[in-house]
Amino acid sequence: MSWKIENPQGQWRIIVTRELPGNTWRNRLVESGCRVEIYAGQTPLTKPDLIRAMGSQCDGVIGQLAESWDRDLFTALADTGGKVYSNYAVGYNNVDLDAAAQYNITVGNTPDLLTHATAELTVALSMAAARRIGEAERYLRDGKFDGWHPTLLLGRELFGKTIGVIGAGRIGEAYARKMVAGFTMNLVYFSRRENSDLDAMVHSYNRFLSDQGLAPVTIHRSETLEELLESADYISLHIPLTDHTRHLIGQDQLAQMKPNAVLINTSRGPIIDETALVEHLQKSPEFRAGLDVFENEPVLTRGLADLENALLVPHIGSATRYARKGMAVLAASNIIGILKGYPIWDSGDMTPFLAPKPPRQTPSIVTNHPKFS
Ligand code: DGY
Repeated sequence: MSWKIENPQGQWRIIVTRELPGNTWRNRLVESGCRVEIYAGQTPLTKPDLIRAMGSQCDGVIGQLAESWDRDLFTALADTGGKVYSNYAVGYNNVDLDAAAQYNITVGNTPDLLTHATAELTVALSMAAARRIGEAERYLRDGKFDGWHPTLLLGRELFGKTIGVIGAGRIGEAYARKMVAGFTMNLVYFSRRENSDLDAMVHSYNRFLSDQGLAPVTIHRSETLEELLESADYISLHIPLTDHTRHLIGQDQLAQMKPNAVLINTSRGPIIDETALVEHLQKSPEFRAGLDVFENEPVLTRGLADLENALLVPHIGSATRYARKGMAVLAASNIIGILKGYPIWDSGDMTPFLAPKPPRQTPSIVTNHPKFS
């Protein structure tokens, strides 16, 4: 098994279960007195590998969303004296927070710096699914293009259509802003909380449209999921995966959508019942899906990859250099902050942690909910 070790004399032993981009994150750990052990292999570490890697002393771990940080792993981390686990992701559905809290292991995540990267990929999937970009590229590369044709690969436009955003948190809001103001789209959203920033944005965009003599766009917070599903042309999922959201979109919900709707998922695969989606895509050739995440990642449900009306990319929502390097800095800063006893940063803006002199604070902790104190 291949591991890189930095600063072997460090006081705290930190395990990093995948190579991360950039150097700032590792420099920060080393400068803070950590010995950093980075797994440099190609295949993901299994649960026994992770337990072996933690060994007899492990103060903290930076782990991956593809690893299931369950009770067994937190028991092992606690046994080695571990204090902190940081997920290299904003989502933490792979982490058993109750188990971590039971052992007083603090759990962190990496929000904010990936918001625009993920929202931009969501825009890209919306456009690419609507305009059949994957299909068109395959057609061309397969040597089928024999000249311009009036009915070749007709798709849908974005302009003037309605986007339905399920979950208007950071990424959902950023996606909605880009779609509304970029393509002059109406917005319907379904969210636990009213998003007054979106209201304000639509209001000022409408002033701009009115100055140009153009018709306004609309914004509506949907009372029910059904209302959104029935009214939207583009539906995008921006909610965390929980017991309540697993299979939120199944056969019944797909049937409620317009026959030519475009469904985009850059959140977590299991929010969609993928078997139901495959059946729906097979039955409704005008319906399109743009998927960055999958129910049983990295395995695709049988039939999905054969469908021309499904656009599929391999979980690259946050895959920009800026976002991924930034996430690494946040993950390292969570570890440092907890080991050094720094207070928890109380702003959602994580950019100060990218500065040469970052705040002596812990960026983002998800076990600081009253439930865990
Ligand atoms: C996350 O951070 O949760 C993303 O899925 C990674 O791209």
